[in-house]
Amino acid sequence: MIENRDFEKLIKQYDFEDAFFYCDPPYTSGCGYEVTSTADFDHERLRDVLKDIKGHFLLSYDDSPIVRELYKGYEIEVERQNGINNREGTNRANKVYKELLIANYPIKELFNNTH
Ligand SMILES: C[S@@+](CC[C@H](N)C(=O)[O-])C[C@H]1O[C@@H](n2cnc3c(N)ncnc32)[C@H](O)[C@@H]1O
Repeated sequence: MIENRDFEKLIKQYDFEDAFFYCDPPYTSGCGYEVTSTADFDHERLRDVLKDIKGHFLLSYDDSPIVRELYKGYEIEVERQNGINNREGTNRANKVYKELLIANYPIKELFNNTH
């Protein structure tokens, strides 16, 4: 089932103890391929919705001071070489982007799990 609705309505509708939400919101700093304006996205509202859920979430975000401040306490940092738009021959080729993975439970458990 594919839905196209505001994250708050979706998360609240499908939240329960065993729910798992992977969220890939627009970056706070932009990454060159925004499909919607990053300026319109309410990052604080997403943080507030996720803070109160019964289930689990994993968020991927740009490594920016705004994100680190919003999610102080539970992020790990990963390094990602090349995004989908960092192709050879472009001025973005071979750029290394730092991306944060943020979760409301120990992220290592995520990687050790098979599901
Ligand atoms: C970084 S992109 C995610 C791309 C996605 N992971 C994919 O592979 O296609 C951020 C997405 O957030 C969506 N978005 C923006 N505002 C939203 C909102 N209020 N509720 C839900 N999604 C929203 C945008 O439409 C965009 O598709």
